[in-house]
Amino acid sequence: MPTDPLELRDHAPLLDAWLRFHEEASLPFTIPGHKQRHDLVGDVVAGDVPLYAGLDTMKLSQGVLAEAEGRAAQLWGAELCRFSVGGATHGNQALALALAGGGDGDSGNNDSGDNDSGNKNKVVVSRTLHRSMLSGLALAGLDPVWVRPEVDARTGLPRGVTPGVVDEALERNPGVRGVLVGDPSYVGTVGDVAGLAEVAHRHGVPLVVDAAWAAHFGFHPDLPPHALALGADAMVVSAHKTLPAWSQAALVLARARSTEWPTGLDPARFDAAVEATHTTSPAGAILASIDASRALLEREGDVLLGEVTAAVRATRARLTDLDGLILLDGPDVDPLKLTLVLSGTGANGIDVENDLLVQGTPVEMADRDTIVAQVSIADDAVTLGRLADALVASIGRRRGSPRAVVTASSYAVDPVTVLSPREAWFAPARAVPVEEAIGRVSAELVAPYPPGIPVLAPGEQVTGEVVEALLGARDAGVRIAYAADPSLATLRVVDN
Ligand SMILES: Cc1ncc(COP(=O)(O)O)c(C=O)c1O
Repeated sequence: MPTDPLELRDHAPLLDAWLRFHEEASLPFTIPGHKQRHDLVGDVVAGDVPLYAGLDTMKLSQGVLAEAEGRAAQLWGAELCRFSVGGATHGNQALALALAGGGDGDSGNNDSGDNDSGNKNKVVVSRTLHRSMLSGLALAGLDPVWVRPEVDARTGLPRGVTPGVVDEALERNPGVRGVLVGDPSYVGTVGDVAGLAEVAHRHGVPLVVDAAWAAHFGFHPDLPPHALALGADAMVVSAHKTLPAWSQAALVLARARSTEWPTGLDPARFDAAVEATHTTSPAGAILASIDASRALLEREGDVLLGEVTAAVRATRARLTDLDGLILLDGPDVDPLKLTLVLSGTGANGIDVENDLLVQGTPVEMADRDTIVAQVSIADDAVTLGRLADALVASIGRRRGSPRAVVTASSYAVDPVTVLSPREAWFAPARAVPVEEAIGRVSAELVAPYPPGIPVLAPGEQVTGEVVEALLGARDAGVRIAYAADPSLATLRVVDN
């Protein structure tokens, strides 16, 4: 049993402030406008306490947020830490902004002297990046040099981007601003982050890791170390994905630039970038839940994560008996993630997802061939047992002829880049019927969701292959996200 949250408050200044707000009644003439009344729209506003004039005074005179962020920085071995109520989405955009600019030798990253090479606005980026990083590139005016992860032929799913591929990209593009990768991947595969950090640092640039799915890494011996511990310069984690935090809760963590750590981030740029893209009215309950999750990890992460990883192991062992089913497992897979490849069972993942919905056990992601069940520190043998029962029953009922494993378009796309994301984002654009879009430059980002990885990004040529992949995903029942016309009858292209 975890510690009583009331005891946790002694170790979590924002949690303490949130509890105190409720203990000390006041009559606020400040925002939020519900004024703590629950009789107008009901409990939907329950627990909503602002940071300003809530967890702290309007002038932040108590410094509770800074204290909580300092504790998190210490726990993750960072010099810089900011809490976000905008999810890893905000964190990724902030880090893209923090990397951009400079280049005059004063405060930008990569003062290697190579900045006249024409590459000073470029970053080496994994093509399986989340769309938030792509919009970050557009915001920051950074041009991607794409690198692709290896795809495992057995599962059709991505592994990490290899250090060798990144090394080659850095050799070809001297003077870039940094390397950005997502690790672990959406399906839970873990790459060689230490190797990537070594390569990036050899080229004098920072390694930034979107570790949205890995807030728990580093807090149990069975889990991989987190990206900063492996040498990364900055990382983003979603506290709401694997820790008991409110939706939207995330942390942005970084090493500060110094003589000892020359690839670290400039603290002023880091702060300015976080502020530029964050709300000025952060929800205190979200911030307090980050602080409480940090305190819980620090005090009991080892025990709780030990229990849940053991429960996931037991679930995997049970599901392994299902004929034809592939379960992602092994040292290169997040021990907390349950990813199933269904092709060999003949079951269609969308049908299985529908069965799971009926059973009240919805999963994070399902397409025809893959199911991803997201497990968190809040799960245990009981919750996982229920999921396993539902999966065994559904796969048994939905069995069919085995299919060959195919790689989803999100992981296989080979983009033809014509314009930078930013140029395409701001270019005049118009919607044309999808067949007429082929051969033109996309003005929009289109991603089957989940996983939310762009198959088409602004500035890329709309190829016949991409259109076929997107229409195929749509017809298979996958939601087409972010497109102006999700039916894909039309696509927005650059008007020239
Ligand atoms: C790899 C990756 N990065 C970032 C995000 C965005 O996270 P958030 O929902 O916390 O904004 C996601 C969301 O699924 C993701 O998969």
